[in-house]
Amino acid sequence: MQSNVLQFKPATRTKRLLAPKATRLTTACYKACDKDHSAVDWYTPPAIVEALGGQEGFDLDPCTPEDHSDLPAPTARRMIPRSQDGLATVWWPQAFVWMNPPYGKGMDKWMTKLANHPGGGIALVPAHMDPGWMHDFVLNHHNTTAILLTRGRLKFMRPDGTTGTAAPTGSVFVAYGQRAARNLKKAQEEGVLRGKFFAIQRVTKVANANQGSANDE
Ligand SMILES: C[S@@+](CC[C@H](N)C(=O)[O-])C[C@H]1O[C@@H](n2cnc3c(N)ncnc32)[C@H](O)[C@@H]1O
Repeated sequence: MQSNVLQFKPATRTKRLLAPKATRLTTACYKACDKDHSAVDWYTPPAIVEALGGQEGFDLDPCTPEDHSDLPAPTARRMIPRSQDGLATVWWPQAFVWMNPPYGKGMDKWMTKLANHPGGGIALVPAHMDPGWMHDFVLNHHNTTAILLTRGRLKFMRPDGTTGTAAPTGSVFVAYGQRAARNLKKAQEEGVLRGKFFAIQRVTKVANANQGSANDE
């Protein structure tokens, strides 16, 4: 009689060697190339920027395309393109910043700049929990006031206005300063951002820890 139990047979060494190698799709690759491997920028859906403050709410976006009309909507009052180098430019201290930086190498430089910027702001970064920049400038930085871990993956937009497929990872919105934390919480409450919001309170006395959680939904 034939058994219904499926037998697992480990592949032979020859079969393993012939099997195609898995392609590693990193976020850096996702940001840098489209399906046909042509260079492409990926932009934040305008509803998200709008819910977090919008063009009038954000004073500065230091990472923008050369041609701002490529963006689905303006992201801030002042937008700095690559040719003017938003990283090297001095940000005026009070500027409230929107930052969806170029992913990959150099993330730590963008993140340290925003984390230490006195005017605060909101960053949108991939949900990679292991890199140094995530620990140094998000999870352990004294200016981080809240984070929101997306439930599901965002669909970024191409310069031609079309929407891409879901990003290869979830995203994290990082709030620096109280205003940023309020905007982030509001966007979640309005349902524009789906995910888990964590207010980050630096607990200085153990007694404070029992006074209720700002993370309750
Ligand atoms: C992920 S896109 C985000 C665009 C837009 N801020 C948004 O939220 O949709 C990153 C942008 O940063 C630009 N960029 C890369 N290096 C830059 C630099 N050093 N200074 C300014 N912009 C830069 C890229 O051209 C790209 O348009």
